[in-house]
Amino acid sequence: MSLFKRHQGRGTTATMKNGAMLITVADPKNPVSEQFRTVRTNIHFMSVDEPLKLVAFTSSNVSEGKSTVTANVAITWAQEGKKVLLIDADLRRSTLHATFNLSNASGLTTILTSSASELDLNSVIQDSGIDNLSVVTAGPTPPNPSELLNSKRMTAFLDAIKPIYDVIVLDVPPLLEVTDTQALSGHLDGVILVVRAGVTQKAAVARAVEMLKISKARLLGYVMNDVDSSDAGYGYGYGYGYGYGSDNKK
Ligand SMILES: Nc1ncnc2c1ncn2[C@@H]1O[C@H](COP(=O)(O)OP(=O)(O)OP(=O)(O)O)[C@@H](O)[C@H]1O
Ligand SMILES: [Mg+2]
Repeated sequence: MSLFKRHQGRGTTATMKNGAMLITVADPKNPVSEQFRTVRTNIHFMSVDEPLKLVAFTSSNVSEGKSTVTANVAITWAQEGKKVLLIDADLRRSTLHATFNLSNASGLTTILTSSASELDLNSVIQDSGIDNLSVVTAGPTPPNPSELLNSKRMTAFLDAIKPIYDVIVLDVPPLLEVTDTQALSGHLDGVILVVRAGVTQKAAVARAVEMLKISKARLLGYVMNDVDSSDAGYGYGYGYGYGYGSDNKK
């Protein structure tokens, strides 16, 4: 049994072209969907008193499963009735428009490059087709993604959407490739590191964790993606590790 096509080597563009596989929509009773719900629940347990509102899934390198995990976990939040906004902040390898079959003519880059004094949220927030889930696609690829994500306008955008949604989930670039995620992490309530079983090197994970520490991000835990389970050959796990405890905002 295989729900996902196996990994096609480092840096595959499959998700960029065809979108991420939404198993949580296609087959909510599948054990993999259950694993995504477990990820959601564990994130909730990381901060019961003060719910985490703005979270991002990142990884060390490209193609480790960020977009797949991000979209599916966001869907599980929407499925439990939370009002969710999913934002494609991976401006170089964007996928959300393909995943949800939406236009990418305007998106995050549109609002970040606009010179209008007011933020026109309605022009970039799209209905995903799934109850409770709205989407902001990446928009046209800019020459300066890091600068845009690190801009005052990005801060203003996040401040404007925070009161409207219960959970805001960002699909962000890999830590060891570009500085975008480090720049963004100051705005986030928490970051989850996606590690691809059998692919991600230990040294890369250690370096990614170090970079999160430097940028004072709160690492909530990690998702072990593509775990080779005997019955399926894919899978997800959730854990806490690499020297981070449960409440270690540093
Ligand atoms: N558990 C899994 N089992 C098999 N294939 C998977 C699994 N998770 C992801 N993939 C596949 O691996 C590829 C990369 O996944 P995805 O696009 O979600 O990763 P990414 O980290 O967002 O990549 P990028 O760095 O390009 O943004 C896709 O073809 C996806 O279908
Ligand atoms: Mg991606």
